Amino acid sequence: MRHCHEFEDLAHPHAGVEPDRAYYIPFAPGQDPDAPRESSERFILLNGTWRMKLYDRISAVPEEFCQPGFDDGGFSPMPVPSCWQTQGLDRHQYSNVRYPIPYDPPFVPHADPCGAYRTVFRADEALCARRLYLNFEGVDSFYYVWVNGRRVGHSQVSHSTSEFDITAFVRPGENLLAVLVLKWSVGTYLECQDKFRMSGIFRDVYLLARPRRHIRDVGVRTWGCEGYTRAVVQVGVDWAGGTGRLEWQLLDPDGAEAARGEAESDLIVHLDAPRFWSAESPALYRLILRTEEETICLPVGVRDIAVKGRQVLLNGRPLRLRGVNRHDSDPVTGFTISPEQAMRDLVLMKRHNVNAIRTSHYPNAPWFARLCDRYGFYLIDEADMECHGVTEVFGGGDEISYGLLAQDPAFEGLILDRVRRCVIRDKNSPSVLIWSLGNESGYGPAFEKAGRWVREYDPTRLVHFEGAWRQTGGHVNDDSMLHLFSRMYTPPDFVRRWLADPANVKPFLLVEYCHAMGNGPGDLEDYETMMLEEPGVLGGFVWEWCDHAIDAGPAPGGGRRYLYGGDSGEFPHDVNFCVDGLVSPDRTPHPGLLELKNVWRPVRAWREKEGIGLRNTLDFTDASRLVRYRWEMRRDGVPAGGGEGELPALAPRGRAWMPLPCPAPQGPGRWDLRLVWLAARDVPLRPAGEELGFDEITLQEDFPALPPLCPGRVDWRETDEEICLAGEGFQYRFDRFTGCFKSLVWGGRERLSRPMGFNVWRAPTDNDRKIRRVWEQAGYDRAQIRLAGCRAARAADGAAEIRCEAVFAASVRQPFLRCAVCWRVDARGGLRLTVEGRRDPVFPYLPRFGVRLFLPAGFETLNYTGYGPGESYLDKRRASWYGTFCSTVDGEYVDYIKPQEHGSHTGCAGVRLSGQDAALWAAASAPFSFRASHYPQEALAAAAHDFELRRAADVELCLDYKNSGIGSNSCGPVLDPRYALAEEQFRFELALGFARP
Ligand code: GAL
Ligand code: MG
Repeated sequence: MRHCHEFEDLAHPHAGVEPDRAYYIPFAPGQDPDAPRESSERFILLNGTWRMKLYDRISAVPEEFCQPGFDDGGFSPMPVPSCWQTQGLDRHQYSNVRYPIPYDPPFVPHADPCGAYRTVFRADEALCARRLYLNFEGVDSFYYVWVNGRRVGHSQVSHSTSEFDITAFVRPGENLLAVLVLKWSVGTYLECQDKFRMSGIFRDVYLLARPRRHIRDVGVRTWGCEGYTRAVVQVGVDWAGGTGRLEWQLLDPDGAEAARGEAESDLIVHLDAPRFWSAESPALYRLILRTEEETICLPVGVRDIAVKGRQVLLNGRPLRLRGVNRHDSDPVTGFTISPEQAMRDLVLMKRHNVNAIRTSHYPNAPWFARLCDRYGFYLIDEADMECHGVTEVFGGGDEISYGLLAQDPAFEGLILDRVRRCVIRDKNSPSVLIWSLGNESGYGPAFEKAGRWVREYDPTRLVHFEGAWRQTGGHVNDDSMLHLFSRMYTPPDFVRRWLADPANVKPFLLVEYCHAMGNGPGDLEDYETMMLEEPGVLGGFVWEWCDHAIDAGPAPGGGRRYLYGGDSGEFPHDVNFCVDGLVSPDRTPHPGLLELKNVWRPVRAWREKEGIGLRNTLDFTDASRLVRYRWEMRRDGVPAGGGEGELPALAPRGRAWMPLPCPAPQGPGRWDLRLVWLAARDVPLRPAGEELGFDEITLQEDFPALPPLCPGRVDWRETDEEICLAGEGFQYRFDRFTGCFKSLVWGGRERLSRPMGFNVWRAPTDNDRKIRRVWEQAGYDRAQIRLAGCRAARAADGAAEIRCEAVFAASVRQPFLRCAVCWRVDARGGLRLTVEGRRDPVFPYLPRFGVRLFLPAGFETLNYTGYGPGESYLDKRRASWYGTFCSTVDGEYVDYIKPQEHGSHTGCAGVRLSGQDAALWAAASAPFSFRASHYPQEALAAAAHDFELRRAADVELCLDYKNSGIGSNSCGPVLDPRYALAEEQFRFELALGFARP
């Protein structure tokens, strides 16, 4: 054992392993073959508490550990399946691109942690008379298997099934199963996915007890014909131990028999008026295969997929994928995911209008595709293949070393093996539309061969591989076997330009886009607009479904302590780059998921010819069958009527028109019509009545004018440092160095807990992580203000008017912003600020511009008119609508594991914060942004984790001319300039004042 380094062998990745086959579970005759697999008499689950010991290198493992007589007193109980690291063994490591071990393939360090596992299972005579197959659905990364001390074989490819025939090793009575799992192996070089690196037997282990003669493999293919009025189901059967008699039956989606017959191997069924499978109507037939001693049931989705020009057709109709990238990841169980956990994801996805999943970056457990077949999700099924770390070799890089393994003939067999294992196992799932050869592995002959193999083996699906667009290492890429042109994170304009070139003949797929890290993504709607306009785009998959983190127990203030890269003292690590999902680790939806849901609503509406234009974004269903609506009318954000309605006929991808469901606006003000799309009937995982999204149509634009200042006389007194103003019920002190007020006494009490100030900074979001460096070079994070020409004068109406020039600059740098500032204070203490800003365009865009106030504890009740109720930004506001909302300052907190800017509201007309005896209100002459929080920007920027934050008693209130948009530049394109505070000149007019609450 210890001298043969099979785990570094390039030529023989597996030993004692059965040839690949499709996933299925045999049942005994008479059993319901469609029942959960645990109920099959022929399925013996070996999961449970095994005994295990972790050694730090293979040479330290006692050779006899696999022997029945070995004293495993030093071993500890270990749940199978599970990951070592979630059980307190080894340690967590989060690495994106970089290999955690030296790059010296196929060799791995001598210090290679090994888990020695032991368990026993009982077998009786009857069981021993059968062929016994031992199945491992997932072991990371390499393992040896012994039964009763005799070596059965070894295997690898962590996320694929390996099946060992152990018939000859099992005897009646107690049998010892021993497994030695290595953390590092040659497979490590091919499993460099951006994830926490975990190890162990992390998926189910079971025995299948089968007759000597049985179906070994079965393949089902379907296609439509005669204009999709008929379909063909073709089944190929491969026997082991000799052929036998086969009775088959095809049940339709309602369970009625559609066809039956007898065969020996292959069979063909012709269906009249078939029900086709799609994610919108996942109609499943069932194929039941009966041999003398077994029954096998396979779900059959009648569907076909084809490429016509640059369009992908499913069942003859153009298809749009609205997808997410999903990892198997859980903060407690790591890579070990139960069907219940997966279902939780699927339910959330369905309810947020997701119709597709890419199993990034490896196949999920085999039952996962079955769930997608049943509930209706399209899958890109990806081989367990990524060698991204090759780009990090010293002197290397994307253009230089990306092809190191992809172009190394010695690795070809391993790469092909990984692709085959994925395709052959999952080939019977209708949900799988596209095979992916892997992720981020460069490109070369190995992938070209793999692609050709897939096309030949499975002509009924498409093949994709993102890596093919980039040439590296001098290899001239042949991508002719790939059906799609796939890219990640390219901006919408890039896609448009690519499609405009007639030389580009393939459908375009954004296999990753809209990086959902932290506060974001902000560009979902702009991508969607592009995709709705461009038929050559098959769709996209948002990166990514869930935040990866480690649950380190309860946090003192409530919630959980979620840890990310670096928190376990590991090297290398990539900090919080793994916390980039649409849902938090416990699957709480982030605002980005709500945004996504509405961007992917099934119906879109707009104002058209005195009525409403409608567009159905579904591919197969008349929207009027699935969707009805509720309408809400608002005047200046305040509800002004509502009702319900039915849609006119709205063919798949079609358009229609309907009259306005509401009366026309009556009188001045802003009038909005909100159409809330409701599920008209149940679909799998989504009950009738559920909101599917909404459109908001502004029927009349009108922005409220600022209230006039109160006439009357205000007195003031000036010193070199301040201007003290007093009037009816107030005394204010203006700071001649900051250009703002340092004290506002109103109603006899100080209403500022800290001095007010101008503010250009924000707690950087994850999507600011690149521009942040430029901002910091410009000095926005440490801007100083110099005030020139500050003087007070009396206005005609008696108000005090303070004018000054504010110059913003940071040490080292020249001024980036000059503002002509004018404050007016009226007789009742009402304030009016006018800022005329001039930005030096040599500098980067500003995070924001506005004033920041700190109000004492107690100003807790929040009322505002603007985009709510969730956080909203210039480019991230599709889950919000224009309304009048009531909230609390605490309620504005949005929990991002890595704290950052959050909770702003864009497009506002007014905001009011009320305390016990006073309320502060603010309004502006044009839509503005505000943020009210107990977590000031400095605290957010300084904290690495949410659980480090301490709630301040006072309230930070930012009143901004503009808060720059969010984008998705943590990995995606730079922020679209339309959403950045990049104007060279701007004007901000803000009114604020106090009132009784
Ligand atoms: C992609 C990669 C993903 C992930 C993402 C960034 O390049 O395919 O695995 O690393 O970037 O979060
Ligand atoms: Mg990668």
